[in-house]
Amino acid sequence: MQLADRTIVVSGGASGLGGATAEMVVAAGGNAVILDINADAGAALAGRLGPRAHWIRTDITDGDAVEAAVDSARNHFGAIHGLVCTAGIAVAERVLGRDGTQPLAHFARSIQINLIGTFNVVRVAAAAMATNEPLSSGERGVVVMTASVAAFDGQVGQAAYAASKGGVVGMTLPLAREFARVGVRVMTIAPGTFDTPLLAALPDAARASLAQQVPFPSRLGRPAEFASLVRHIFENEMLNGEVIRLDGAIRMAPR
Ligand SMILES: NC(=O)c1ccc[n+]([C@@H]2O[C@H](COP(=O)([O-])OP(=O)(O)OC[C@H]3O[C@@H](n4cnc5c(N)ncnc54)[C@H](O)[C@@H]3O)[C@@H](O)[C@H]2O)c1
Repeated sequence: MQLADRTIVVSGGASGLGGATAEMVVAAGGNAVILDINADAGAALAGRLGPRAHWIRTDITDGDAVEAAVDSARNHFGAIHGLVCTAGIAVAERVLGRDGTQPLAHFARSIQINLIGTFNVVRVAAAAMATNEPLSSGERGVVVMTASVAAFDGQVGQAAYAASKGGVVGMTLPLAREFARVGVRVMTIAPGTFDTPLLAALPDAARASLAQQVPFPSRLGRPAEFASLVRHIFENEMLNGEVIRLDGAIRMAPR
């Protein structure tokens, strides 16, 4: 599917990888619907991107709110042709910490946002895409989810994050198999270390160390490189049911 004149929902689209994706969609002549809880960043980005961007404050863990947001996106642009799920949180916490055992609620929050929230948006957006008139190839829509290399090589302190991203990896194939009937492809990108506000929270030394661990190129990934892969996935119809690591060959060390 080409992006020109198509409407793509980007959850977590106010910042980082999602922000770069929204920019790429508009630059490619498409419409970007930004769903995010960060109202300031969402409104600012949509304002900068102009009328081809539409911003809806949405918590992806809220079933009713996501249904209302997808309805609003359809009313605004007429239909939804794609979904890119980038909303997520990265919390590092040991199970056996210095101050005690990891509270169950902390583990549950990572799963709630990264896994259940992703599923929630996929479920609602896929139902909307299933009603589209198919393209000549039969395609009605494309879903791109975001996991992490932590799904495969999670570090100490990443049990919750790795479990949430492992869940995204695990549902990629069954969703692709199920949505094949309605012509909706499902892919997942597992990024390595990208230079976004999520990583900006780390001290400079930790960021430099992460960059230096990437075999080649030895730097943090650029959000535009993530967006570029999203675009390729939309355009290459044979990509379906697969997880692509985008990581410069990094394999995370235990800590
Ligand atoms: N940056 C990296 O190195 C990296 C590596 C691997 C995976 N990822 C994944 O990529 C995705 C994007 O990360 P990023 O680096 O761009 O982070 P980011 O913090 O810049 O962007 C994430 C966005 O998600 C939004 N969000 C969080 N919870 C939400 C909710 N409940 N409802 C709606 N929006 C919500 C935030 O407001 C933010 O705008 C995340 O899923 C992250 O786990 C990032």
